[in-house]
Amino acid sequence: MNLEPNFNSIARPYRWLEYLTLGRALERCRLHFLPLLLDQKRALVIGDGDGRFLASLMAANHHIQVDAVDTSATMLELLSKRCKGSTTRLQIHNTSALTFAPTGPYDLVVTHFFLDCLAQPDLEALVNRIAPTLSPGALWLISDFRIPSGSMRLPGRIIVRTLYLAFRLLTGLRTTHLPDHAAPLIQAGLTRIGHHHSLAGLLTTELWQLERSLPLHSPHLNQ
Ligand SMILES: C[S@@+](CC[C@H](N)C(=O)[O-])C[C@H]1O[C@@H](n2cnc3c(N)ncnc32)[C@H](O)[C@@H]1O
Repeated sequence: MNLEPNFNSIARPYRWLEYLTLGRALERCRLHFLPLLLDQKRALVIGDGDGRFLASLMAANHHIQVDAVDTSATMLELLSKRCKGSTTRLQIHNTSALTFAPTGPYDLVVTHFFLDCLAQPDLEALVNRIAPTLSPGALWLISDFRIPSGSMRLPGRIIVRTLYLAFRLLTGLRTTHLPDHAAPLIQAGLTRIGHHHSLAGLLTTELWQLERSLPLHSPHLNQ
């Protein structure tokens, strides 16, 4: 039995469903750190959906080479159309990120509203597979839903639960709660260097960076 979600049927209305439910909040979230990505040279972009972020990235950064990975052929068709001015710099992989063999070296990974589709063990396996393909100082840009603290905690839980239920019905997504991306990223040697919360704390966009070199006191140097 295929347990992978299938986003094909919602690929075309995806943009309008997003605007109708959350307005431009996700769009602002995705683009928040774009000005810091203009010098990156090789990116792995996973689950970018209909390619709105990727088109903006490739329009803003004229030399970046991109591997775009997505399980949805229809999403990739839309992405390809949006990036049609940059096809020589774009390699499309219609496959699961969980089995894709990244080559690298990448100085940028982008996962906007993708890691929250994964169960914790899959997320950890993905980070462990990608981390060795990153060049020193590489950036990983992540946007995801989060549960806010304080008075927005309960409404946040209800909204996230409702979104998971909707995606389960529309795509067959089995994930039911937000995984923790911070722990595996820290374990892989990345540090969060910037973050921005929006929509009453329900959205986060975060920039993580791999250490540029091993610290001098690293046990690796004393072996
Ligand atoms: C919730 S949508 C997010 C789309 C877009 N990144 C955004 O910011 O709205 C998740 C995307 O990840 C893709 N996807 C889901 N599971 C995947 C997997 N295991 N490997 C690669 N892509 C996957 C879906 O086809 C879809 O395009």
